[in-house]
Amino acid sequence: MEKRIAVLPGDGIGPEVTQEAVHLIQTVDGLFGHHTEFAYGKIGGIAIDEEGTPLPQATVELASSSDAVLLGAVGGPKWDKGQGNMRPEAGLLGLRKSLAVYANLRPITVFDSLAHASTLKPEVVKGVDFVILRELTGGLYFGQPRGRREGDQGLEVLDTLLYSEVEIEAILRLGFETARKRNKRLTSVDKANVLESSRLWREVAERLSADYPDVELSHVLVDNAAMQIVKNPAQFDVLVTENMFGDILSDEAAMITGSIGLLPSASLSQQGPGLYEPVHGSAPDIAGKGLANPLATFLSTAMMYRYSLNLPDEAKAIELAVTTVLQSGARTADLALPGESTYSTRQMGDAVRDALKRGVQQ
Ligand code: IPM
Ligand code: MG
Repeated sequence: MEKRIAVLPGDGIGPEVTQEAVHLIQTVDGLFGHHTEFAYGKIGGIAIDEEGTPLPQATVELASSSDAVLLGAVGGPKWDKGQGNMRPEAGLLGLRKSLAVYANLRPITVFDSLAHASTLKPEVVKGVDFVILRELTGGLYFGQPRGRREGDQGLEVLDTLLYSEVEIEAILRLGFETARKRNKRLTSVDKANVLESSRLWREVAERLSADYPDVELSHVLVDNAAMQIVKNPAQFDVLVTENMFGDILSDEAAMITGSIGLLPSASLSQQGPGLYEPVHGSAPDIAGKGLANPLATFLSTAMMYRYSLNLPDEAKAIELAVTTVLQSGARTADLALPGESTYSTRQMGDAVRDALKRGVQQ
């Protein structure tokens, strides 16, 4: 199969981890007889430095015309003082909007071999396997008007939480569909005791629920959801929520697994390329030192095979290779317990690629 993948390494550890993923894809090509063309683009801080904008038009065009987009990470202290659209994050948000990737899937899976690495007790995290489905192109992140203005008492600031019913329905429907393919339990997270947007959210969830009698729908307020995620995370199957709540809950849930360095994500549109990125940020403090964990990017690559390239066997082979390598005791610095020896980014990449070859050739 011939595919074109847009690679946007971005900032900090982004280039290191995406480079490992490119090697991984080349290994998959060799094993499964595909051919992948890589098209590189700039985004984030590096794009500000070199092109004067965090999202050059060339990057948008490259991404939209590819089969899938693999992104490293954006941001760093160097650009933290940038105003509004001159921040690296604005590049990422702009890319999400221009690809119309309204649905962000963040699987929270605890590998048995790492249950002890979590800050929660092993018996609480064992067997945790749920998905956070976050609305990604609406809500507070994009609502207009926003900004600063002069009010009666001086400076005022304004952000707008805006959703159309169509947007709410689209993400909730995907929530029901996702639950249907899993354990058939959908938890809709909102703040319906306070927010108007959440009240409509809840109404739409109730209405759609009639189309999915096989899926058990429950509603949880976002503050309670935050508590339940650390109290009893194994209760969840699929959590669906709006953009801002999903941003916060997904970082919280990521820590259950022991390291945010393991968490992949897929952002999907109704049609057109998906965007695949590790949940961890650009980690500027460890950039360029060979310390970064490439596994979140590898697992994001597996999601890319599954959702954008429609190659589930390739996805499973990568996931199995990651599981095998973790079982064998390989650890990057973020996963190692005190006294355990650690693998560099490249060594971890090599270990997974070797396990992939052994697994597929068996
Ligand atoms: C994420 C990140 C982004 C977000 C930032 C970098 C804009 O935190 O993907 O969760 O808030 O969506
Ligand atoms: Mg976040």
